Amino acid sequence: MMDLFEAIRGRRSCRAYLKDAVEREVVEKILEAATWAPSPLNSQPWEFLVVTDQSVKEKIYTEAVRCKEWALEKSGWKWLGKYGVDFLKTTPVIIAVIGDPKGTGVDMFMEEGSTGYQLACGAAIQNMLLAGHALGFGGLWFTLFDKKAMRKILGVEEKKLPIGLVCIGKPLGAPGAIPRKSFQEKTTWV
Ligand SMILES: Cc1cc2nc3c(=O)[nH]c(=O)nc-3n(C[C@H](O)[C@H](O)[C@H](O)COP(=O)(O)O)c2cc1C
Repeated sequence: MMDLFEAIRGRRSCRAYLKDAVEREVVEKILEAATWAPSPLNSQPWEFLVVTDQSVKEKIYTEAVRCKEWALEKSGWKWLGKYGVDFLKTTPVIIAVIGDPKGTGVDMFMEEGSTGYQLACGAAIQNMLLAGHALGFGGLWFTLFDKKAMRKILGVEEKKLPIGLVCIGKPLGAPGAIPRKSFQEKTTWV
């Protein structure tokens, strides 16, 4: 089994997948890893929708294209125009992580409001990506969608929030290297 630090350093976002199906056993291992993430008061404010149906993937793709066009206009970021989301149609498995705003902590009384449940879902997503990588699969944390539109596509009740989509599959080629700033640059000891 891959060492934890090796998994953390080696994981890269994958945006091109082989069509090979991902075995249910693998998906279940990834989901189990997600459930061991920390959460406020151990509220475990996540639910998972495992998407393998091609027609649902096509709807997710259409929404991503629409959201990309909206974001391009809003931001003026030219690179967005070149960012393709075709891989959403060929990714073997897309796991939607749905957050429950009720599953939050003392933050609900604070000025910034309830953020804990979203952070917990983020921690679950990171566990999923690391577990997938350790098992030899590529993954991507995908958020280029309107939350309301995604709720409709996935049939999620209104009081819950689609936090992110996790794409999983065998990578098609090696994902590109992407640098990091050093922790020294990001750290002050006080
Ligand atoms: C909250 C969040 C949202 C993200 N949304 C997207 C997305 O919509 N599309 C995408 O291609 N990558 C998305 N990413 C992946 C980042 O682009 C990626 O993690 C970053 O560029 C660093 O690359 P690496 O994951 O290969 O280290 C997202 C990551 C996070 C944490």
